[in-house]
Amino acid sequence: MPNHYLRVHKLPQAVDEKELSGTTVIVIDLLRATSTICQALASGAREVVPFLDVDDALAAAKGTDRASIVLGGERRGGKIPGFDVGNSPAEYTSQVVGGKRVFITTTNGTRAMHHARLASRVVLGSFLNLSAVAASIKSEPAIDILCAGTDGSETDEDILAAGSIVHALCYVDGAPSNQEISESAAMAGAAWSLLNTKANMASRPVRDELAVVLRDTAGGRNLIGIGLDQDIVDCAQIDRYDVVPELDLQAWRITAR
Ligand code: MLT
Repeated sequence: MPNHYLRVHKLPQAVDEKELSGTTVIVIDLLRATSTICQALASGAREVVPFLDVDDALAAAKGTDRASIVLGGERRGGKIPGFDVGNSPAEYTSQVVGGKRVFITTTNGTRAMHHARLASRVVLGSFLNLSAVAASIKSEPAIDILCAGTDGSETDEDILAAGSIVHALCYVDGAPSNQEISESAAMAGAAWSLLNTKANMASRPVRDELAVVLRDTAGGRNLIGIGLDQDIVDCAQIDRYDVVPELDLQAWRITAR
């Protein structure tokens, strides 16, 4: 493996966790875990603690000052019984999460974070904070973008978001400038380029084109199926926040950098 590289893994299962040891990992679960965590921190949450299991999140909340904790997340896309909020970004307002700790558990997103636990840095990516994330990692030598997927299947929404980061990091005049980008990174970058070209041709803002394309992804269809179409629009806002959620791998909590 060269010292400098940029790779995209379409699923956690596509890369052994030991291979991520010592690298910088950007975890993406666009619809919706990493978008929602970005929103929570932008709304003033003190920190976000990711849990793999519902019972662990409930038990941790019980052992603390409950009023200082917001329990959030989803199973099958819906709010978990006994939790305060679901996994829609719009629920994470400053009134709900400002100054609080958020304990979150989601089906695929928190698992992808766990898969990256041997990395040297773990940052969470989404469209909401695309440029801020790209700027925060641009001088890192070895970057792995880890897509969460959905229940073991690749999802186009994560790959598009990965492509937007590849683009921001190493595309000049529409082509990759960095020789060390993996084939999957080049493919993700090309998917993002295509979306931008389509938006230009239709004289449509990229975020509007994106919201249309996201409706036809696995995650988008799941959200439409449970009546959460607005979440797709909310997650398609590009560069809304200058927030870089970073997972402290020792303390196991996500804060804004
Ligand atoms: C996940 O972690 O699988 C997603 O965040 C799913 C969702 O938001 O519905």
